[in-house]
Amino acid sequence: MLKAALLSLQIDHVRILQSRYEQVLADQGYDSLLISSGAAPKRFGDDQSWHFQGYGPFVHWTGLTGFENSWLLIRKGHKPLLSLHQPVDFWHANLELAQEPWLAEFELRFSDNHSAPGLDSVSRTAVIGDPSLLADVSGEHNPDALFDGLNETRVHKTAYEIACMAHANELAVTGHRAARNAFLAGASEFEINLAYQHATQQREADAPYHSIIGVNEHAGTLHYQYYDTAAPAKSRSLLMDAGVRYRGYCSDVTRMTAGVGEGRFGALVHGLETLQLRLCSMVGPGVDYLDIHRKAHLGIAALLSAAGLVSGLSDEKMVSEGVTRVFFPHGIGHFLGVQVHDVAGKPISPPADAPFLRLMRTLEPGMMVTIEPGLYFIPSLLEPLLSGALGHHMNRALIEELQGCGGIRIEDNVLVVSSGFRNLTREAEA
Ligand code: GLY
Ligand code: MN
Ligand code: MN
Repeated sequence: MLKAALLSLQIDHVRILQSRYEQVLADQGYDSLLISSGAAPKRFGDDQSWHFQGYGPFVHWTGLTGFENSWLLIRKGHKPLLSLHQPVDFWHANLELAQEPWLAEFELRFSDNHSAPGLDSVSRTAVIGDPSLLADVSGEHNPDALFDGLNETRVHKTAYEIACMAHANELAVTGHRAARNAFLAGASEFEINLAYQHATQQREADAPYHSIIGVNEHAGTLHYQYYDTAAPAKSRSLLMDAGVRYRGYCSDVTRMTAGVGEGRFGALVHGLETLQLRLCSMVGPGVDYLDIHRKAHLGIAALLSAAGLVSGLSDEKMVSEGVTRVFFPHGIGHFLGVQVHDVAGKPISPPADAPFLRLMRTLEPGMMVTIEPGLYFIPSLLEPLLSGALGHHMNRALIEELQGCGGIRIEDNVLVVSSGFRNLTREAEA
């Protein structure tokens, strides 16, 4: 999309938020809402801070992830007041604010201190943000009843948000291609990370989440968080789960690569990808997301049989006996937005057989979800299965062989539209 068109959509976005927020505030009996951008705390016993990424509601309005100690005041019938912290500081630089059209929708101030903008004392004000930053701020702090409504404003993405996430997917796809090439050339996890950062021009600390780069058995740790600096003697598999932020919005993409000569593992990757695409095509209005999760388990069961990993058990039995949960222990996905695991996904708790499912809603147009089935060889989960009553149904030799490849996850970002779905990740790859 042309930049001018995106900037025009951003103005619509701000106006839509103003109307959504006014409604939520009226419903809850508030005249105004003050939003803190947040601030990175110092590490205990140290003078160094954690890397900062702004508070979700502040980013939702502004797209600004890097402004600490800043404030946004929302009131009915007024332009939002954006107060950005710009201290006089010869140790650090102040962030530059690009002069873009959306700023005209705000009353903009710069402040050299941490104070919140002054408030009309007669207004009933809610204040949201990290409680440690609100001590001197008058108003009701983080009222529970308000959050459901505020979080709901993030569920149905505006055209601007969709365009941002489409571009965040394009950037991530570029990074994943570079990462795959690096892996196939024999690079280490560390070097693969560098290739991804270089291709996406994104600092690691600015990514929506810590990139998961698992080579060989590391691919079997769901959120593997280290990077080996030495490449293994044989590169058998790469699980790369990495996204990009664009104007505050996240992509969350996982791609798998089987190493040269890994025919059996490669066939399993292919099988999981076929299943993943089928699950993506289930996305549409009126679909219960839990149904997609359940279909994923049946699909994993079929794959386990077809690959010869499990025999003598029906697909249904594999699911009901918890066999598929050993190989696929996480949920099928989540909402995506200015946070990688975006808010408002669980108005009700997931059922006991899907404890890690992060999205328990019926899908509606405008919702952005991930679809990310996996199939892993995780020793701590496999051990009780292999030594238990169903152990004789398991192909130990094959499991042992594939354990060295760790596991598989394939993840796309999928938008619900009135006619079904748009797969932003596959569009970016096309
Ligand atoms: N990258 C974390 C997740 O896929 O949920
Ligand atoms: Mn992911
Ligand atoms: Mn995800």
